[in-house]
Amino acid sequence: MEVVIAPADELAVLAADAVESLLRAKPDAVLGLATGSSPLAVYGELARRHAESGLSFASATGFMLDEYVGIAADHPERYRNVIEREIASPVGWPSRQVHGPDGSAADLPAACAAYEKAIVDAGGVDLQLLGIGTDGHIAFNEPGSSLASRTRIKTLTSQTRQDNARFFGGDVEQVPRHCLTQGLGTIMAARHLVLLATGRGKAEAVHQLVEGPVSALWPATVMQLHPHATVLVDEGAASRL
Ligand code: GLP
Repeated sequence: MEVVIAPADELAVLAADAVESLLRAKPDAVLGLATGSSPLAVYGELARRHAESGLSFASATGFMLDEYVGIAADHPERYRNVIEREIASPVGWPSRQVHGPDGSAADLPAACAAYEKAIVDAGGVDLQLLGIGTDGHIAFNEPGSSLASRTRIKTLTSQTRQDNARFFGGDVEQVPRHCLTQGLGTIMAARHLVLLATGRGKAEAVHQLVEGPVSALWPATVMQLHPHATVLVDEGAASRL
């Protein structure tokens, strides 16, 4: 695992560099997309490069990590809408090439199985962007998640719902209780993992991720077993290393 400690704006540039090198070498690359606030500066940097130097997503495919269950189709915090607004639309990425788990499907287990198949059929994810929750979750793999898990329905912990209430007007009751999420096994199948974390609130999770024992109690620790994992952290997030 490679750990880089740098100011937050530099981390976003480094992550964007990784995406850009991949796309220049392989225009039809498969990118794994994270939500949450951590990747937003990366998406902003990629949009800037698209506008200024023609970085193209026209042949790329995207797969989102997760989606809320039971959220209105037009809700601004529906992850599909977040990804469209923050990255797909700004870089001119055709919507049909960006996929997410279908949290509104009548048959959710079937939607999860179909999503796993779609990722495999696309050739697997080349580069997966990740954030990390304060409790060490990646995507929505909460503590206790099987390290071999695949895309499935999960119940959000109260900690995660409280953390995400800021996106729902500060009202935790508005945060959905369930989600569909790629499993830890799904994420580990990506060829390169790039995780971003900033701020002291992430210090314990980053400490466990980098230095803790591999354990389902801190799901991100599974990344220690990945052959190509990059962890990009600022001084605050690195303060317990
Ligand atoms: C949500 C997302 C995760 C994300 C986490 C951290 O729970 N499902 O993918 O990593 O939030 O979010 P943030 O980057 O806003 O701290």
